[in-house]
Amino acid sequence: MEQKRRGVRLVLFPCPLQGHINPMLQLASILHSKGFSITIVHTCFNSPNSSNYPDFTFIPIPDGVSDDKSVLSDGITFLSFFNVNCAVPLRDCLIRLLSDATNIVAEAVAEHIPCLISDSLMHFTQGVADSLKLPRLVLQTSSVVSSLAFAAFPVLRQKGYLPISDSQLETPLTELPPLKVKDLPVFHTHDVDIMCQFMESFVNQVKASSGIIVNTFHHLEQPALAAHGKEFPIPVFTIGPFHKVFPASSSSLLTQDRSCIAWLDTQAPKSVIYVSFGSLASMDKAEFVEMAWGLANCNSPFLWVVRSDLVHGSKRIEPFWPDGFLEMISGKGCIVKWAPQQEVLAHPAVGGFWTHNGWNSTLESICEGVPMLCRPCFGDQKVNARYVSHVWRVGLQLENKLERGEIERSIRRLMFEKEGEEMRERVSS
Ligand code: UDX
Repeated sequence: MEQKRRGVRLVLFPCPLQGHINPMLQLASILHSKGFSITIVHTCFNSPNSSNYPDFTFIPIPDGVSDDKSVLSDGITFLSFFNVNCAVPLRDCLIRLLSDATNIVAEAVAEHIPCLISDSLMHFTQGVADSLKLPRLVLQTSSVVSSLAFAAFPVLRQKGYLPISDSQLETPLTELPPLKVKDLPVFHTHDVDIMCQFMESFVNQVKASSGIIVNTFHHLEQPALAAHGKEFPIPVFTIGPFHKVFPASSSSLLTQDRSCIAWLDTQAPKSVIYVSFGSLASMDKAEFVEMAWGLANCNSPFLWVVRSDLVHGSKRIEPFWPDGFLEMISGKGCIVKWAPQQEVLAHPAVGGFWTHNGWNSTLESICEGVPMLCRPCFGDQKVNARYVSHVWRVGLQLENKLERGEIERSIRRLMFEKEGEEMRERVSS
């Protein structure tokens, strides 16, 4: 039984994706360390491992996913599904929690629930919280600069930049410098109207909240915060990076393969390029083959995270390795299905990170002083990559079609040439 603490219980509701569960549970751990009691209300889909958090109370709510797995096929359909299906179960759960709190107060063991903290993408939670007269704080798991791009969608649509057309890809966006049209944080979806509606709902419900907690830090995003304050005129708390206070390993949905740490121990300082595209990004088979040969041919040893669903459309558990690839990389490459990423980035042997620029990965890399090779896939990753390469200048971006020769050259620039060294100095300072 959890010990009673300060008499204030915070209820947190994450979006059920790895890149969102990590920061929400890190935030919960930070708040718990400040004396608050913690309840995590979560979907059954991708439910966090409660045994790693013996001090928290976990409450699963039904989400309907087991009945209809097709909703997991594209990002916007996925998010919309949870925004519709979780409304009644979350409201019922909060009513129970609030009434329990009132009963306990009556017994003079006060445990007040002052607010709900929910992920910004779970925009339905504002309506639920309003209906219960419960203030809602939003956790924004992405950068400040990407939230400005999301907020600009209606204007950009009016100006004809959305849906994105091939002829406008390189057009600079004067509204959001230094972004170009191709950097807009769009999601893979068949219906641009539905995507824009989703963005509008989520931005409006952030604006309707009582405040925003952002997993970022002032020094990094200070210039964007003034514009952010105008767009979102509510209190903003930039209290990140969370992972420096509590690591993400306890909230990992997949088992982290620690054998790669022993392999890193055998490598020279700053010699290894770590390659990982987070938990969701995927590629087609042709890109995967180019990536494999680019890594095999480059002069750096590499540690590559190859998830079983990294190649889209493939149902194979083991990837389709090109002929001769595994023989060629023997001794210079280490491949795992999921790594202890924070530990990897902090390892002295790691000198570069080829990343999709999910915001957690980007922050983790910056905090460990590791320069990046950027290959964003969708959403906020595109904005993050442009800022990493052109504003913070701690990485370079692979912008063209993936091709083994260019991969090899880019890794060389990052790992061995002066520009890579300068990025390493900037990111370490
Ligand atoms: C998603 C979105 O893609 C991202 O753009 C958004 O900002 C957050 O949600 P994801 O794609 O999974 O997240 O990427 P990222 O934000 O980088 O989060 C991945 C997390 O998984 C990181 O905390 C990372 O440390 C962890 N990880 C990744 C592992 O523990 N092991 C791995 O092998 C790879």
